[in-house]
Amino acid sequence: MKSGHAKNLEKPSGKLGVLIPGLGAVATTFIAGVEAIRQGLYPPIGSLTQMGHIRLGKRTDSRQPLVKDFVPLADLNDLVMGGWDIFEDNCYEAASKSAVLTDTMLQPLSGFLSNIKPMKAVFDREYVKRIDGPNVKKGKNKMDLAEQLMDDIDNFKKQNNCSRLVGVWCGSTEVYRQQTKVHGSLKDFEQGLKDNDPNIAPSQIYAYALLKKRVPYANGAPNLCLDTDAMQELAIENNVAISGKDFKTGQTLMKTILAPGFKARLLGLSGWFSTNILGNRDGEVLDDPESFKTKEVSKLSVLDTILQPELYPDLYRNLYHKVRINYYPPRGDNKEGWDNIDIFGWMGMPMQIKVDFLCRDSILAAPIVLDLVIFMDFAQRAGYKGIQEWLSFYFKSPMADKKLYPEHDLFIQMIKLKNNLRYAMGEDLITHLGVEYYD
Ligand SMILES: NC(=O)c1ccc[n+]([C@@H]2O[C@H](COP(=O)([O-])OP(=O)(O)OC[C@H]3O[C@@H](n4cnc5c(N)ncnc54)[C@H](O)[C@@H]3O)[C@@H](O)[C@H]2O)c1
Repeated sequence: MKSGHAKNLEKPSGKLGVLIPGLGAVATTFIAGVEAIRQGLYPPIGSLTQMGHIRLGKRTDSRQPLVKDFVPLADLNDLVMGGWDIFEDNCYEAASKSAVLTDTMLQPLSGFLSNIKPMKAVFDREYVKRIDGPNVKKGKNKMDLAEQLMDDIDNFKKQNNCSRLVGVWCGSTEVYRQQTKVHGSLKDFEQGLKDNDPNIAPSQIYAYALLKKRVPYANGAPNLCLDTDAMQELAIENNVAISGKDFKTGQTLMKTILAPGFKARLLGLSGWFSTNILGNRDGEVLDDPESFKTKEVSKLSVLDTILQPELYPDLYRNLYHKVRINYYPPRGDNKEGWDNIDIFGWMGMPMQIKVDFLCRDSILAAPIVLDLVIFMDFAQRAGYKGIQEWLSFYFKSPMADKKLYPEHDLFIQMIKLKNNLRYAMGEDLITHLGVEYYD
């Protein structure tokens, strides 16, 4: 099947402004890394848009171009960075404090990073309880705050001479909330903004402002934001691409690599206990039970859809899945995630697997931010609107249409992403069918 509806899309020209609510560890590691890559200091490790290849046609055709040579994507040199934070630190100060990168790594980037200063944030301590900062907007109601954000967006675009913008939420995880009446339609949401409805979170005010300005937007945290009826209505009405939620890094990445393997070999699972220690600001925010609840729901959702216990009751019906996050300051951003996995095989015999992943969260998250920036800009230029399910690869809790279940298996997500690119560029989809047997 061929489509090719993006086949005639030109390589973009002009600057692409990247607007990030939350200039903390992930955002500054992403921004520093992009500049370091531009200076030729490191290769873009972990980024599919920069390093990945894609096979086209038959295996005998030997066509394996780089993704970025196959799809008309924005050039790294055209990215201009900006964002909002509740603290006044510029990106050099914020990167130094979050201590993901060493001073030696930051030094050649200090001039560039110091020039990126956060705009005043929209913030409410009811939604993020463990931190507070001075760089915050004041307004007569939430609609007024949204309008101030829209002014920021317009000014940023003009001052930096951008032809396009893209947004990625890298702010703290907000407390657990479910959709309420105010999120049920765009009309109710707009009324709620004017009435200062307490159910409208700061992250939702950013989303509203960005979507109103037709800026494609990805949500890197697990809290309720783009996954409400109101935001999805606005995205469709304004022809804007959205994606989310919660960057897939660390332990969940490992889970979505391992679980499809057990399922493929029809090995049973009786328990999966995951615990983490981390000591960065994200860990501090997640130490609050209400923010942890948001993260927990996101992390727990992964296994059920991969394992399909309703289809494989003998293997997965009694799985006990537990996830803990422990704030432990000495570790900083260098998280340690332990998994104890109880599996069983032939004649029910039990076995155990232990995983001890000494990872660096923001190092795993930064290339995801980059790929989302580049692919969301592509999606918007190609005229895609609403949820970009083909980008599920990057998320712990991938958003999907209400009629569909989300896809969690990393390998299916990868096939889906690449087939979407092939389809968009008018190439045959790759099914891995061994047609040679049938000739
Ligand atoms: N690091 C990872 O691997 C990873 C993975 C998945 C999701 N996430 C999520 O990404 C987000 C960022 O993680 P991080 O490690 O950079 O955390 P961080 O605490 O270092 O950075 C978050 C920043 O957001 C700011 N902030 C909070 N509320 C804000 C608001 N309303 N407006 C503007 N700024 C606001 C904070 O001041 C802070 O500087 C978190 O929600 C985290 O859960 C991170």
